[in-house]
Amino acid sequence: MSRSVGDRLPGQILELLDGHEPAASMGLTVLLLTTNADDWPQVAMLSAGEVLALHASELRLALWPGSGATRNLTSRSRATLMLVTGDAGYYLRVRTHRLSDITPMGARLAVFGATVDDVLVDEVDYATLVSGIEFRLLEPEAVLARWVATLEALRGV
Ligand SMILES: Cc1cc2nc3c(=O)[nH]c(=O)nc-3n(C[C@H](O)[C@H](O)[C@H](O)COP(=O)(O)O)c2cc1C
Repeated sequence: MSRSVGDRLPGQILELLDGHEPAASMGLTVLLLTTNADDWPQVAMLSAGEVLALHASELRLALWPGSGATRNLTSRSRATLMLVTGDAGYYLRVRTHRLSDITPMGARLAVFGATVDDVLVDEVDYATLVSGIEFRLLEPEAVLARWVATLEALRGV
């Protein structure tokens, strides 16, 4: 069962998403769950190049401007971010607000500030999570350069 551990990001999540070493978080998938106009939960997959933890209670997200997630967060200000690290699942409930768009390397992205409202840890005593969703970059160097530019722009909003 999931349990609340308060409204601050645990150290290991802060370390994964603080933007200092995006190459070390390559492959990490952060699920972004929002609610659309018909009340359907909508899922987007984000990487460590588009999610920046500024500190333990504030994140910033860079989203594709035409996506459902951008549409949903522009009209509704709540979301859950989900990731697996160590052997536990984490659900980060956040309240969002739209900030100025950024255009790292010429591509426009919608930016949202996300204030942590609650951190839930999901673990059970009869099983251990062995992985979250992971992806492999087809052109790691080019993508990493884009992530670095995106994270820098996110920090400067
Ligand atoms: C490996 C992978 C990485 C993705 N990275 C991002 C991302 O950084 N930003 C983003 O907005 N969407 C990203 N997406 C796309 C979202 O999952 C989703 O398709 C997009 O937000 C459009 O969703 P919609 O159909 O609800 O509009 C990624 C998808 C995959 C499979």
